[in-house]
Amino acid sequence: MTHKIILDTDPGIDDAMAIFTAFAHPEIELLGLTTTFGNVSVEQATTNALQLVEMAGVDVPVAKGVATPWVKPLSDFPDFVHGKDGFGNINLPAPKGAPVSQSAAEFIVEQVMSQPGEVTLVAVGPLGNLATALKLEPQIAEKVKRVVIMGGVIAADGNVSPVAEANILSDPHAADKVMAASWEVVIVGLDVTHQVVLSNALFNQIRDENPKVGAFMHQAAQFYISFYSSVRDIDGCYGHDVSAVAYVVDPDIFTVESGEVCVATDGVAIGQTIMSRFGIPYPLPFWQDRPKQKACMGVDDQRLVALFRDAMTSDFWSK
Ligand code: BDR
Ligand code: CA
Repeated sequence: MTHKIILDTDPGIDDAMAIFTAFAHPEIELLGLTTTFGNVSVEQATTNALQLVEMAGVDVPVAKGVATPWVKPLSDFPDFVHGKDGFGNINLPAPKGAPVSQSAAEFIVEQVMSQPGEVTLVAVGPLGNLATALKLEPQIAEKVKRVVIMGGVIAADGNVSPVAEANILSDPHAADKVMAASWEVVIVGLDVTHQVVLSNALFNQIRDENPKVGAFMHQAAQFYISFYSSVRDIDGCYGHDVSAVAYVVDPDIFTVESGEVCVATDGVAIGQTIMSRFGIPYPLPFWQDRPKQKACMGVDDQRLVALFRDAMTSDFWSK
């Protein structure tokens, strides 16, 4: 079965892993990349998306998206995680191509409305483009197949505060709109992505077996791995964004719970994704009248790593 997806992204080293997996996976038809601020500015994210398209030699449109959060001021970009250029300071030459004239939100609306029930939105950055698309055309909530996000954390620890994950904290107001809409959202958050460790040995294999993008992916991963090995007790890096792509093609890799979700938009818990998982009729009103969404709570990490490895070392890269 082929899955039509739009990948909304802020490339980003682990975004590049997700994008390459989407290019190469035989069961994914990638309709386009839409870009957002997040790991880098939206200008840099768009440049980076175009560079990945050209490096891989694929014909995939790129639509530029939001430059700032919905309400809160723009924060500094995390160059200590992804480098100033988003790819670990490799500083690739400028791409030859350009983004399409539509904005990311316009591109999402057009694709979803013209293929009702067929398009999965996979968002692996802050959620401003999805919130803007909903504002532009609220009917996309009924017409989309589902929304899969890398973002948030339900029961484990955050990575930018004790309770918040980076993509959600970058634009909590947009994230809350996405959680409140009447479409199916699947949260692939830190509950599972902090169990998916991609080792240096794996990136060595990718460098050796992928003639098109292996050397780049290996080099960029060194920066990401060195950040993670300095702050966490792991020998490698987390496969955050590729986990959302994996959910699309093999949801059985994950165990899932469901409940209404609110995102804290201010105060000490800003950016927290709070799911009402236990069916308790709480006296506080926040979760009432919200749709039940899904959150991945368990993962077969070895199966996910194999999916990434297979996509990155497949024949697709020799054509
Ligand atoms: C998320 O934040 C970004 O740094 C990564 O690209 C990923 O999307 C992980 O919290
Ligand atoms: Ca990302």
